[in-house]
Amino acid sequence: VVTKALKKQMIIPDWERFAGDMGEIFEDVRRFNDGELATYIPQLSRVPPDSWAMSVCTIDGQRKSWGDSLKPFCLQSVSKPFTYALVHDDIGPEALHAHVGQEPSGRLFNDISLDHNKKPHNPLINAGAIVVASLLKNHSSLADRFDFMIHACRKFVGSGYIGFNNSVFLSERETADRNYALSYYMREHNVFPKDLNLQDTLDLYFQICSIETNCDSLAVMAATLANGGVNPMNGERIVNNRACRDTLSLMYSCGMYDWSGQFAFHVGLPAKSGVSGDMIIVIPNVMGIALYSPRLDKLGNTVRGVKFAEQLVQKYNFHNY
Ligand code: DON
Repeated sequence: VVTKALKKQMIIPDWERFAGDMGEIFEDVRRFNDGELATYIPQLSRVPPDSWAMSVCTIDGQRKSWGDSLKPFCLQSVSKPFTYALVHDDIGPEALHAHVGQEPSGRLFNDISLDHNKKPHNPLINAGAIVVASLLKNHSSLADRFDFMIHACRKFVGSGYIGFNNSVFLSERETADRNYALSYYMREHNVFPKDLNLQDTLDLYFQICSIETNCDSLAVMAATLANGGVNPMNGERIVNNRACRDTLSLMYSCGMYDWSGQFAFHVGLPAKSGVSGDMIIVIPNVMGIALYSPRLDKLGNTVRGVKFAEQLVQKYNFHNY
């Protein structure tokens, strides 16, 4: 890395200038303070609403953070691409996609609907993510399955922070009528693998949503996806190339809830948001970006995160096309 830096061969050669521009956009976007906190999970509605954080990590391991970048938050749906990548890596795309499709749903993230094959539309909405959770090391005990997931998250962040927020988990389980309804509906249509323990699967899904990190660490998780599944900070391969590629394809078409088409059109990059107000943007072969601001728009995306993404591609030509 040092030789590359001296020869100006880093993926972002003029790092100081780039970081300066990123900081300017970050400060400009702070003025967008509309939007509401997620209230359907009571614990999520009690966080300080004005937090604003951003971190970047390149595939060469150049990093920088702005704002409240060490403040912990739950992954929520930002966990979905990572769970998908891990299950994909473990059982392969055919076995995995026997249970879940690859189409944007065109509906809200928790809508009770299946595609024309009677499968969830994609792994990044609740229905699909619950099915993916049911496939995660599904011959092991619930404890071993959760251990596998949290250890995998630790590998994605390298030396960063990964924790677990038990209050969010309990709060989410307590108020999860929609996810129970979705799951019973899916079980009626034989979406799940055989011998499913539905309560275990839902508990695992809620627990994964309640895994905690911060922006500084989440940027390394995103950068691992930008880097073909290899953690850029320590060179460890976490998921195989194909799992990483398929994850990014789905993030591109389905990562931003019912705003995914608009986001693909205007921003043109794979991304995923969660109802805690977190969001990742992946610039393949360049960098991962993590954002956190808990005020959400009507579709459930972080208001400042989306504004940041739009301004980023105006300043830098990262749009895929
Ligand atoms: O299942 C729920 O409603 C939340 N744990 C997931 C929330 C989330 O971020 C929605 N994403 N697609």
